[in-house]
Amino acid sequence: MFGFGKLIDVLKKDPKRIVFTEGTDPRILEASSHLLTGTFLQPILVGNPDAIQKAAEDVGFNIRGAEIVDPQNFDRMDEMVDCFCELRKSKGVTPEQARKTLAQGNYFGTMLVKMGIADALLGGATYSTADTVRPALQLIKTKPGNNIVSSVFILVRPSATGQNEVLAMADCAINIHPNEDELAEIATEAAECAKIFGIDPKVAFLSYSTFGSGSGEDVDKMRNAAEKARKRAPELAIEGELQFDAAVAPRVAKVKCPDSKVAGHANTFVFPDINAGNIGYKIAQRLGNFEAYGPILLGLNAPVNDLSRGCNASEVYSMAIITAALA
Ligand SMILES: CC(C)(COP(=O)(O)OP(=O)(O)OC[C@H]1O[C@@H](n2cnc3c(N)ncnc32)[C@H](O)[C@@H]1OP(=O)(O)O)[C@@H](O)C(=O)NCCC(=O)NCCS
Repeated sequence: MFGFGKLIDVLKKDPKRIVFTEGTDPRILEASSHLLTGTFLQPILVGNPDAIQKAAEDVGFNIRGAEIVDPQNFDRMDEMVDCFCELRKSKGVTPEQARKTLAQGNYFGTMLVKMGIADALLGGATYSTADTVRPALQLIKTKPGNNIVSSVFILVRPSATGQNEVLAMADCAINIHPNEDELAEIATEAAECAKIFGIDPKVAFLSYSTFGSGSGEDVDKMRNAAEKARKRAPELAIEGELQFDAAVAPRVAKVKCPDSKVAGHANTFVFPDINAGNIGYKIAQRLGNFEAYGPILLGLNAPVNDLSRGCNASEVYSMAIITAALA
């Protein structure tokens, strides 16, 4: 079962440094002040020190102890520019272009992770998803063995008994039209991430069809992707194509696919595309009373995560812990 206590325990044993690309944002300042009361996660705020101090005073949060790094006055900027040019040499980036790009908090913060100055990055309080994720795709890059970066949401429905319901949904935020191979990679990465949150993954490839009850290209895509995922990770419980009711409702599963070990009990869902995924997780969040954590990016060489621009300070705090614990 998912609990933040476990992730905090992991960090207490091995404290990390997390860079926030939007150092003057009141939600980032509130979450940072909260983090600074513990000793497991050191915030690094990107921005002008005076502007950050003033913003913190204006909203009344104590950020004493936070590290502030200013792209306009960074003592290792020459080294950062060289490193950036090397990483982007296939694009012919000049040092002048690199300096201009690195003046932006999203690229500068990502390079702090790349250079090992920070362990993880959280952005997106004001930057769009694309502007938070793109620097990571270009500079942190996919880890060996992976072809794409994708994402998963962890959904938690608190229960009075303490037996929280925890589900994983992918890819609801990055890949717009994943192909069969990409869906297989998304599934295995999401299942591995789900384990960190206490889920014993039972993976359903979702469709409007259950085992051939409907037909069409999109049905074939999900069935073939499920097969490819099984080949990629034979140890995982993976089934598809399944309708959502067959995936989660034992009574429906008994009628539609009685022999399936996943159907009726699925807890890790792979959607056919970003439309379905993004709408699906928001329905669970808004109508199903699930708390949504994510998107958690999968397949990168270092943890970088994106906040929703509508996030609050408590969500920033939670996502900071999740992001750092993945480092
Ligand atoms: C992720 C996303 C931002 C990338 O868009 P983009 O920056 O326009 O993509 P580009 O095709 O220009 O690629 C930029 C770089 O990232 C790489 N890249 C793009 N998608 C990638 C992926 N899924 N995995 C790994 N690398 C990827 C490209 O290869 C390229 O690398 P290069 O510059 O070294 O050649 C885009 O897929 C997107 O907008 N997704 C939806 C985001 C969204 O709105 N989500 C909903 C809200 S949560």
